[in-house]
Amino acid sequence: MEEMDYTIVLDTATIHKKVEELGKRISEDFSQKPPLVLGVLKGSVFFLADLMRAVDLPYTLDFIGVSSYKESTESSGKVEITFDLSSDFTGKHILIVEDIIDTGITLDYLTNHIRDRGAEDISVAVLLDKPSRRKTDVKIDYVCFEVEDAFYVGYGLDYQGRLRNLPYIARLNPA
Ligand code: PRP
Repeated sequence: MEEMDYTIVLDTATIHKKVEELGKRISEDFSQKPPLVLGVLKGSVFFLADLMRAVDLPYTLDFIGVSSYKESTESSGKVEITFDLSSDFTGKHILIVEDIIDTGITLDYLTNHIRDRGAEDISVAVLLDKPSRRKTDVKIDYVCFEVEDAFYVGYGLDYQGRLRNLPYIARLNPA
């Protein structure tokens, strides 16, 4: 198996401190309207598991699968729903949990999809925000870390399906 060269940019303690803080904020902000948390597969699951254990509310949880990267480090620009529980979002307060927002194309597609299904309101929590790459105007309510343009792996983020299990976030170095 090919060896990947990467540099750690956010260590485990830094990530967990930020995620705990965010959990507290969400607990306060949603205290009057426990959300339906929507985890976006697959990358968000590590972040989501830590974040939502730090949220002290009677929320419910669903997942939706979306893919746009395929096998490349560049977004293809095409969004595809890969897994859909077909929840009824009517009247619900949706909290989308994503690992990374890059061009924003996926989030834009997803929010339209959820809005079409009758959501009352939609909020977004993201681990990494890469604003320099934005191609659409998307609203993000909670950002753990704003990062510069690079390819990141670890804590859920993958390179060709691998490296999600790294306990930190690292920047992939070009070969
Ligand atoms: C990543 C991420 C977002 C999307 C963001 O998913 O989880 O869904 O890309 O990119 P964008 O803002 O340019 O649309 P990916 O396709 O890598 O799938 P994965 O989470 O299953 O690894």
